[in-house]
Amino acid sequence: MASRDRSKTPTQLPDFDLVLFGGTGDLALRKLLPALYRRYVAGLFPTHARIISVARSSIQRDDYLTQVEHSSRNFLPQGLDATRWRAFSRTLDYVGLDATHPADYAKLAAKLADRPAQVRVFFLSTAPALFETICRNLAAADLVTPGARVVLEKPLGQDRVSAEHINQNVGAIFPERQIYRIDHYLGKEAVQNLLALRFGNALFEPLWRRGLISHVQITVGEQIGVESRGAFYDHTGALRDMVQNHLLQLLCIMAMEPPVSNHPDAVRDEKLKVLRALRPLVARDVASNVVRGQYKAGAVNGLPVVGYLEEEGIPADSATETFVALKAQIDSWRWAGVPFYLRTGKRLAEQSADIVIHFQDVPHSIFESSDTVTANRLVISLQPRDSITLTILAKNPGETMRLRPVDLRLDMADTVRTPQLDAYERLLTDVIKGNLTLFMRRDELDVAWRWIDPIRDAWLQSDERPKAYTAGSWGPAAASSLIGRDGYAWHGEL
Ligand code: BG6
Repeated sequence: MASRDRSKTPTQLPDFDLVLFGGTGDLALRKLLPALYRRYVAGLFPTHARIISVARSSIQRDDYLTQVEHSSRNFLPQGLDATRWRAFSRTLDYVGLDATHPADYAKLAAKLADRPAQVRVFFLSTAPALFETICRNLAAADLVTPGARVVLEKPLGQDRVSAEHINQNVGAIFPERQIYRIDHYLGKEAVQNLLALRFGNALFEPLWRRGLISHVQITVGEQIGVESRGAFYDHTGALRDMVQNHLLQLLCIMAMEPPVSNHPDAVRDEKLKVLRALRPLVARDVASNVVRGQYKAGAVNGLPVVGYLEEEGIPADSATETFVALKAQIDSWRWAGVPFYLRTGKRLAEQSADIVIHFQDVPHSIFESSDTVTANRLVISLQPRDSITLTILAKNPGETMRLRPVDLRLDMADTVRTPQLDAYERLLTDVIKGNLTLFMRRDELDVAWRWIDPIRDAWLQSDERPKAYTAGSWGPAAASSLIGRDGYAWHGEL
């Protein structure tokens, strides 16, 4: 583990008890506990910090610790330091309880009883169907202290109605300011960097608008398939798994007006305005502005992979989409007439996530050559590397006055050598500190679902199946036509 520059280390966390429901689950083992270990190694744990993992299994604490150590070793690129791990594991406890049995909560109450005054966080990394029951049982066991926080992992509902149901039930126990709805994309360093770029520099603001920007592309491409989550994924699909949350949040951060401060509600108010200004896509608009695809067998990184319908747990006639591309419009003074193209899918050619801002061509070219076809472009890459690339036109060396595109590239890992925080490290830190800025507010979630639901309704009413695309490609040809008919091409397909 690289040592951190202590002079830049943020202040220690307040004393906390973090209760992790779903403590034996995939997210806890792959992401949450490794992230907490890294925060511990960074010296941020206060004297009285406890992590209490909760799950149904009657596994003993020692066996649980071995399981966590094993998985953390696999999921931490820098591995584990044995001494630090031992020290960290002293903060980690395990309680076997059935979240649906009110009587079981006494075991948790016994663990928490001695420190009622410290920050108490309930992280619900469980199926959303359990959120209401867990909150009710926590309240009945008198475990919800005045400052207690609840963290909700996605999926937050299957549509607007089910999301509202969750919000109402959780809201009956926890006030909104104590509810942290996670979208881990908001915790990614590059997303913070986009905020820094937009609101820390006067340079970009005058350019960030219609008239100067021709269009925007947001792509989150994944090479992985549905892995072991077939059953979950088949009920969800790319629209609800990725677009409703991650892609719309990226769109909001890119498109929102400058907030008056970085106060959570100042930022969330501006994001909400973007979501409200999204032009609804209903019925016939869906057919012409949204493309859905499903991967068939192909090769990713040269290795053969099966098609979606051959994956474990997927019905042979499933019509679930593993790819979505769409054209969105934001009806506001700033963005009127500027299309936002969103695209995401599994088993695509590359594992990447980026926001590409295409600027207008020069209004009049004084150069003879036709090389000015490439206009300026700003690429904000979230993955695989956090980088910002500005493409400008420069003179091609030689006798003639020809232009060619050149890149001004800032690779954050090369430039800023301080190790970056993983998304969950940042978000867990914010929950414990009580900073809601990077979490979705109830109304944001509601408006996002209101925009997504009609797209799904149109699909449900159509006989058309998702368009097949070969695994390892960039999705169905129709996705290229969607953007191509406006005279543009997807970044990387140029
Ligand atoms: C999750 C989705 O929210 O995000 C997954 O449920 C997806 O299907 C994942 O693979 C992508 O996150 P990241 O950080 O790996 O890009």
